[in-house]
Amino acid sequence: MQIKVLVAYASKYGSTQEVAEKIAATLRENDLLVDLKPIREVKPLEEYTAIVLGAPLYISTSPTGSENHLASFRFQNTFLLNV
Ligand SMILES: Cc1cc2nc3c(=O)[nH]c(=O)nc-3n(C[C@H](O)[C@H](O)[C@H](O)COP(=O)(O)O)c2cc1C
Repeated sequence: MQIKVLVAYASKYGSTQEVAEKIAATLRENDLLVDLKPIREVKPLEEYTAIVLGAPLYISTSPTGSENHLASFRFQNTFLLNV
């Protein structure tokens, strides 16, 4: 089975998106199938082997509530990146 990774991000001014794009490119260079998308567009996650979630911090909180959004999917293989 081919490993498929979701790289999802929240970004207000673009820094987190830029980092997410670089992570996705590196994973693709290593022959992984990668979906890259804003967290608000993420729906069912069953098809993914792992998730990389990028979110900025503003006054110690993520403005989009990304962690809560992802937690609602109860997905285990998640790597959280705060930019
Ligand atoms: C008003 C404001 C508040 C911030 N608060 C935090 C913070 O509490 N902790 C932190 O690590 N970074 C903080 N930052 C830095 C941002 O998280 C950082 O610039 C991030 O890369 C922005 O991502 P974005 O361009 O994807 O929105 C803050 C930045 C701004 C402008």
